[in-house]
Amino acid sequence: MSEILPPLGMLAELTHRCPLQCVYCSNPLELLKADRELPTESWLSLFEEAADLGILQVHLSGGEPTLRPDLEELIACLARRGVYSNLITAGVGIPEGRMQAMADAGLDHVQLSFQGVNAATTELIGNHKGAQEKKLETARQVRSAGLPLTINAPIHRHNMHEVPAFIELALSLGAERLEIANVQYAGWALLNRNSLMPDRADVERQVEIVEAAQERLHGIMAIDFVTPDYFAVYPKPCMGGWARDALVVTPDGTVLPCHAAATIPSLTFQRFGQRTLTDIWYRSDAFNAFRGTAWMPEPCRSCDRQEIDWGGCRCQALAITGDAAATDPACVKSPFHHRMAELAEEKVVEPASLQYRRIGRVAPPSALRHELA
Ligand code: SF4
Ligand code: FES
Repeated sequence: MSEILPPLGMLAELTHRCPLQCVYCSNPLELLKADRELPTESWLSLFEEAADLGILQVHLSGGEPTLRPDLEELIACLARRGVYSNLITAGVGIPEGRMQAMADAGLDHVQLSFQGVNAATTELIGNHKGAQEKKLETARQVRSAGLPLTINAPIHRHNMHEVPAFIELALSLGAERLEIANVQYAGWALLNRNSLMPDRADVERQVEIVEAAQERLHGIMAIDFVTPDYFAVYPKPCMGGWARDALVVTPDGTVLPCHAAATIPSLTFQRFGQRTLTDIWYRSDAFNAFRGTAWMPEPCRSCDRQEIDWGGCRCQALAITGDAAATDPACVKSPFHHRMAELAEEKVVEPASLQYRRIGRVAPPSALRHELA
């Protein structure tokens, strides 16, 4: 295997608690309660070790990370160590003055999610009354604290028609960047896949709209476009490749190569404290399982794209083929590619079928049971 380089980024899921209940959430179905969260001192020592390890960016996420009262202290630790901090927030329930306090502690950037441009869409997807007004107020607070702002728009069948309005919204809020991110089907999004799956014609129209806006707004606002796997020809390099340059830490300190890795039953993951971050990154069996290209089966083994997409997503391969080591079925060369196309046609168009994220596991529908096990 080629030399293992240090990680550059970390997604720190500080809590699974959240005032919203988004149906597309990528968190696991079994959400951790507050009493399972790492205490402040553990997060501080984890961030210290992350900086020693060479991590340059930490994305403070959840759940809703602002529910942690110690967030300013954690941000200050990262700032002291010269680590770039990005707050990923749903922007609901942040009191006046808190954004400024986080900026004062050294926060570098805010990524604010909108479930819709219309208040009704935001409420349908997040199941939180009055969420839109609160998000707009949070955007105002981010700008008045002098922080750079990215608007994150998770896209699916219930809001794809709002893509042009998302672009206008992000411009009107003074965002530097907009992420049009088609939902990745993991966690709650996988549970709700049939209800969230868009129509192909709408996906194709969306691509045209986003590409035209990227050109029109060049130099004004950057637009990142995460395209939908179920309509793809080739997969994306999930997390930039398994354990290549980033890792995820869950609220109880479990260290993962990606947010859905715990769904892979053949792998065992350790918590920070049981082993050091450094030891897990370089030497754990789970991190080394799909690193590089040596593990790849055909058709990846002899494919000239193997160091472009690194075989795609292991968790998606498991969910659809039953084998985490298989080629991602988003790839046209996968023998299961046709299955993606079939699943893209299996839709439930009634919003009433949506299952909201909540702590306390739901029973998955029988058709999905093997995929969600
Ligand atoms: Fe990527 Fe494997 Fe498909 Fe080649 S065969 S494009 S490496 S997923
Ligand atoms: Fe786990 Fe893609 S989500 S590899």
